[in-house]
Amino acid sequence: MMPKVKFVPLSKEVEIKKGETLFKAARVNGVPIGSSCRGDCICGWCKVEVLDGMDNLSQPSECEKKLMSRGNYGLNERVACTTMVFGDVSITTGYW
Ligand code: FES
Repeated sequence: MMPKVKFVPLSKEVEIKKGETLFKAARVNGVPIGSSCRGDCICGWCKVEVLDGMDNLSQPSECEKKLMSRGNYGLNERVACTTMVFGDVSITTGYW
């Protein structure tokens, strides 16, 4: 089964290929997501909050850890462009 990504509070839920990033899930489905580096794990603008399904996401990559170490990341926040999806997940941002 393909994992589902739910964008809260937009009433939008999409299926994506296992291993795709949260960033791509948003982009290809027309959900706006912050970015100045276009998904290269540099800017940190693509930060999202995970409401449900954190265990269904990849472990933080080295570049994500680097961004996180600069601060401003909550416990449930992830860098969408380097976070891969392996199961159902719900995410949100302050601007949706
Ligand atoms: S888009 Fe720049 S860090 Fe994700």
